[in-house]
Amino acid sequence: MRTRHLAAVPVAAAAALLLAACGGGDSSSGDAEGGVELVSAGSLTLCTNPPYEPFEYEEGGEVVGLDIDIVNEVATDLGVELVTKVTPFEGIQSGADLNTNNCDVVASGITITPERQEKIDFSDPYFDANQGLLVPEGSDLSSLDSLDGKKIGVQQATTGETWAQDNGLETIQFEDLGLQVQALRTGQVDAVVNDIAVLGPYVSEGFEIGNEFSTGEQYGIGVKQGNTALLDAVNATLERIREDGTYDDIYTQYIGTAPGQAETAE
Ligand code: ARG
Repeated sequence: MRTRHLAAVPVAAAAALLLAACGGGDSSSGDAEGGVELVSAGSLTLCTNPPYEPFEYEEGGEVVGLDIDIVNEVATDLGVELVTKVTPFEGIQSGADLNTNNCDVVASGITITPERQEKIDFSDPYFDANQGLLVPEGSDLSSLDSLDGKKIGVQQATTGETWAQDNGLETIQFEDLGLQVQALRTGQVDAVVNDIAVLGPYVSEGFEIGNEFSTGEQYGIGVKQGNTALLDAVNATLERIREDGTYDDIYTQYIGTAPGQAETAE
């Protein structure tokens, strides 16, 4: 993680004032940072599920990516250090990691859906997504019709899995994107469905994008239901980084184009 803890003080004070003004923060334990309760004092704990480049992936023994950098901005504004925990996507999207206090926030390329909103409180959206199809180079699989009778690798508990099933495809479930792609490599599946932006990194490895399916999804950062102090802090950071250019810098760094100029990334 790139923690820029030292530069954080004035912003943290501003965040604290903002939170106080919003009436956020019930103080039932001593772990409050600017009125925000944290599962581990002095740190903002994030649950995320790599490999999911460019949102969360391991590099030099660290988890890095667009999601990590954005949540790190939240930690900076709170004046605490970011701690990143790698957990299965299933518990991230179900609210289990939040409800068991395994982490304060979940950021893992998570699409905001009505079902998930019943179990998690989501921030304002920070990224637009569609589903994509990854196929072996030279494959003629592309349209939904061409996938009839084919085996489609999906990631467990994702919107890609739901999308494939809703479209009548025969799915095989994998716990993460790495295992999905591994199954495509060995021929256990004929194609893989996941968010289009994460398929790009595999294109140079003997795969190609077979198609993009417009699903109009949006990613959000999740907090435990009812934790309005933390939710307000996350939204305040998202607003700040949109205004001061940090969001555009992070986006461009990981996506390769500036927001709004995306080719297949959005
Ligand atoms: N956007 C999809 C969803 O919310 C997939 C997210 C998977 N994220 C991950 N880090 N593996 O269901």
